Amino acid sequence: MSEKKKFNRTSTSTSAFGTSGRVGHDSSKFYASKLYDGLRQETNGSQVENPIPESSLNKIFLKSSERMDELPDGSVHLMITSPPYNVTKEYDDNLTLDEYRGLLKRVFAETFRVLVDGGRACINVANLGRKPYIPLHALIIQDMQAIGYQMRGEIIWDKASSASPSTAWGSWQSASNPTLRDIHEYILIFTKGNFTRKKGEKENTISKEEFLEFTKSVWQFPAERAKRVGHPAPFPIELPRRLIQLYTFAEDVVLDPFCGSGSTCIAATLSGRSYVGYELKKEYVDLIEKRIRDEVTNPKSQIPMFEGVGNQPSNPEPEPESPTPNLEP
Ligand SMILES: C[S@@+](CC[C@H](N)C(=O)[O-])C[C@H]1O[C@@H](n2cnc3c(N)ncnc32)[C@H](O)[C@@H]1O
Repeated sequence: MSEKKKFNRTSTSTSAFGTSGRVGHDSSKFYASKLYDGLRQETNGSQVENPIPESSLNKIFLKSSERMDELPDGSVHLMITSPPYNVTKEYDDNLTLDEYRGLLKRVFAETFRVLVDGGRACINVANLGRKPYIPLHALIIQDMQAIGYQMRGEIIWDKASSASPSTAWGSWQSASNPTLRDIHEYILIFTKGNFTRKKGEKENTISKEEFLEFTKSVWQFPAERAKRVGHPAPFPIELPRRLIQLYTFAEDVVLDPFCGSGSTCIAATLSGRSYVGYELKKEYVDLIEKRIRDEVTNPKSQIPMFEGVGNQPSNPEPEPESPTPNLEP
């Protein structure tokens, strides 16, 4: 059957026993149910976007992202970040859990201000510890919803073969106290206001194959090696690249408020988008600028195309990857 015919089925609606065909599905009955009372906060806003001054575009600001005065309200289309882990990595402060959540809330509230109506926010996070396990992802979801974001979904990033070969399994082959060894991280996805963005004159750049793969809720690709990048906790460029392809149009603006080694900025540049980054440490701002120069101009280190991702050598060198979630410090 041709792709066109396959997607031309008659529309369906929610039935008591579910339905197998989902194309053109009428979900109004589901969203009108009591389950959704008070949950949807879509705006009927005009989706006006404010331009960022040229002088602030494609720039890394050496300062805390708790205040992003350089960016007007409603000017950024997508935020991608992985927050500091507060687990005594070299850039971490030793904050209490409440203080730590307070920092993230301030940054993500400021992000809410600068996002356009319909803008998306994606947070890569791993959970911590074991006694007890701290479900950071669940706490962040609560805090994001309190700020006013609506959740779009969550992606499980399966680091599989590249995850640290941890032996921290607790009591060996005994029910005494076996412990789980996380080989995954989360990418939490939120929206400000409308779930839909108007395309207008803008262009999509995602291929059919990428769209079919990136809309799945489990992603599998290797972690980045800290030593290769020169930062303790980089995510691979493939992570922001996928989010940029899925959630933005060409020439949109992408923000990373915890920029680290600048992986988001590199992915944005290579994808024909603009970026704005915030980072507290001067040495990392210098690293970002060098990485952008190297990664964008050196064809050897270009980001892998989607088709090639599955062919990456798995964990060629067993170096620590980023970060080390749920291992007890
Ligand atoms: C987990 S790392 C980000 C890594 C990044 N995703 C990458 O691929 O390299 C978090 C970064 O946030 C920075 N940071 C911590 N607090 C900050 C703040 N208030 N404002 C801006 N950056 C901050 C840290 O210095 C650290 O480099």
